[in-house]
Amino acid sequence: MPKTSIDPESAKKIVQIKEQFDFESGHLRPPSKNDQGIFSKCTNYQAPAQAKNLGIYPYFREIEETGSSHVVIDGRDIVTISSNNYLGLAKDSRVIAAGRDAIEKFGIGCTGSRFLNGTLSLHRTLERNISSFLGREDSIVMSTGFQANQGTISCLLGRQDVAFSDRENHASIYEGCAIAQGKTLRYRHNDMDHLEHLLQKNSQVKGKLIITDSVFSMSGDIANLPEIVKIAKNHGASLLVDEAHGMGVLGDNGRGACEYFDVEKDIDIYVGTFSKSLGSIGGFVSTKKNIAEYIRHKASAFIFTAALPPASVAGVLEGLDILATDSKRRKRLHENTAFIKRAFFELGIQVNNNLVPIVPIQIGDEALTLYMNRLLFDDGVFAGVAVSPVVPPLKAMIRTSYTSAHTKEDLDKILISFEKNLKKIGVLPQ
Ligand SMILES: Cc1ncc(COP(=O)(O)O)c(C=O)c1O
Repeated sequence: MPKTSIDPESAKKIVQIKEQFDFESGHLRPPSKNDQGIFSKCTNYQAPAQAKNLGIYPYFREIEETGSSHVVIDGRDIVTISSNNYLGLAKDSRVIAAGRDAIEKFGIGCTGSRFLNGTLSLHRTLERNISSFLGREDSIVMSTGFQANQGTISCLLGRQDVAFSDRENHASIYEGCAIAQGKTLRYRHNDMDHLEHLLQKNSQVKGKLIITDSVFSMSGDIANLPEIVKIAKNHGASLLVDEAHGMGVLGDNGRGACEYFDVEKDIDIYVGTFSKSLGSIGGFVSTKKNIAEYIRHKASAFIFTAALPPASVAGVLEGLDILATDSKRRKRLHENTAFIKRAFFELGIQVNNNLVPIVPIQIGDEALTLYMNRLLFDDGVFAGVAVSPVVPPLKAMIRTSYTSAHTKEDLDKILISFEKNLKKIGVLPQ
């Protein structure tokens, strides 16, 4: 095995980071006797300040301009691999024109909730189009995908019901389960034996709902939907699938992992978002008419919040039409994904070989990961970063994601920077 070594300048910096950044809690200062009140946790929360002082703070970067695969930050043109704009629709000229027309016709907001005064004909058109695209009876457009999960799960999961939820599911699923009246049991990530075991132990429960992301947002793993469907049938459980990262990306027609595995008719509730492949904001739930009617009248996260603004709805309507009819973008996305995964693999980095354009680069150590993220940024590469508690301790990663809009030059630049800096910090051999 070739030996790895860390370059002296990086080694010095990493020692400094480890000494000065408290990865465990971010609470370096012991709480003072005079400050025990509600805000003492804020006073003692030092992690962001420590990271900023060390130059490794990766969050809330101010973007001055956006392109499809580039952004401008601090006046520098930077290639981004932290966006979920998988099909490049966020800046598509037809999408922008549709949004502009809607702003002129309806203004910038709906000034109320869908329930009372905020439902435009545009919302209903989008709901009909989503239902027809997915082959479902009814759909409800909500203000975010987060709210679609939270609202749907919390109103469906009654006192006597039990949810069976993958441990890597999105935070919005956790939140929905947390505020629901029913109980939630978490099965180990994509572990079908564990799911089956939990269902067996709860065979007396009448209302059982299995909940899974179709594509997991950090690992890029695809849920084992064929097996989950089988297990659900065997145990009389219903199934909710969050296709946030599947829609537009997987399936011959872009309907997601459910289409890819040919299990669409076995999914009871399909949740989606407009903030990934559709490049906008908003979310939805698609299901049978009677279930949708119930959610429409019971989900607090839908009823007690302002409706999705006209420009977003119109932009998504146009984007959905492109997503459904223009398979070239998806093909290009898959080509870019295959190219980058092969290149990382050839560099000696462990990646899976599925079609998902989320490619986590596992580094493990938090200090190394944050420093690596900074080195990439200095090279003009804007990547995401996931450290504990988003991922378990010592499982820190650079989260990279790709779009149909990335060019060969973009991908080459990204690879050069990764290779150079992974060698620098001793993750790859010199
Ligand atoms: C798997 C998953 N579900 C739901 C959401 C929430 O989507 P939105 O951005 O529309 O709130 C996200 C977004 O991060 C996600 O990754």
